[in-house]
Amino acid sequence: MDIRVLKTKADIAKACGEIFIEEINKKSDIVLGLATGATPLPTYEYLIDAYKNGRVSFKEVTSFNLDEYCDLARENENSYYSYMLNNFFNHVDMDKSRINIPDGNAKDAEKECAAYDKMIEDMGGIDIQLLGIGTNGHIGFNEPSDEFTDATFKVKLSDSTIESNSIYFPDGDMPRYALTMGIGSIMKAKKIILIATGAAKIDAVDKMVNGEVSPACPASILQNHDDVIIFLDEDAAAKINK
Ligand code: PGA
Repeated sequence: MDIRVLKTKADIAKACGEIFIEEINKKSDIVLGLATGATPLPTYEYLIDAYKNGRVSFKEVTSFNLDEYCDLARENENSYYSYMLNNFFNHVDMDKSRINIPDGNAKDAEKECAAYDKMIEDMGGIDIQLLGIGTNGHIGFNEPSDEFTDATFKVKLSDSTIESNSIYFPDGDMPRYALTMGIGSIMKAKKIILIATGAAKIDAVDKMVNGEVSPACPASILQNHDDVIIFLDEDAAAKINK
């Protein structure tokens, strides 16, 4: 694991954003795996600025998001579809036909998940996968469990994820299920960049980096990937050099 500890979220956004810019400028039809949540927002802002300054174009980029809530209208402001449009896609020149997000309202979730994996495969796989990490060590919505998941699947969200994400659903209507890429899908990405910021992530980062590889901390599997960059701020990195 290539662990890079930087001072501020802005420093991470710049460092991470510059990797994306360089890779997109090398391969304009790159396939990106994208993440939602609070963590990647500064990176998306950095990329939007770079686009506005003419340093990068997303015209030929294809994207696959990690996950989406089930039983939540796509138009709901808390869907990951809305998140991606509002925080990124609407501000750059992405071709909307190349944006892929699992359909959490699909009647046949199994079929939707299989079709999603097939689309990724047909595109030649994901070149760079961006990840955050949950306080419980999840990546995507792969919650701690007894075994590592494989392909995209429908997951029942853990109590800790529901607790963390309920802040976005003050009316108490936080979805209980989601569709998520599996650990197997994530590990197939050619390059992985994970960002963790803030003291709430200290223990999850510690287990991911220092702990044994175990589905009890799904992110620990990244120790087995040969091209992973982990960007941490000083708060999140507090236990990594123990
Ligand atoms: P956050 O979520 O960026 O909102 O902290 C990260 C995650 O749950 O993967």
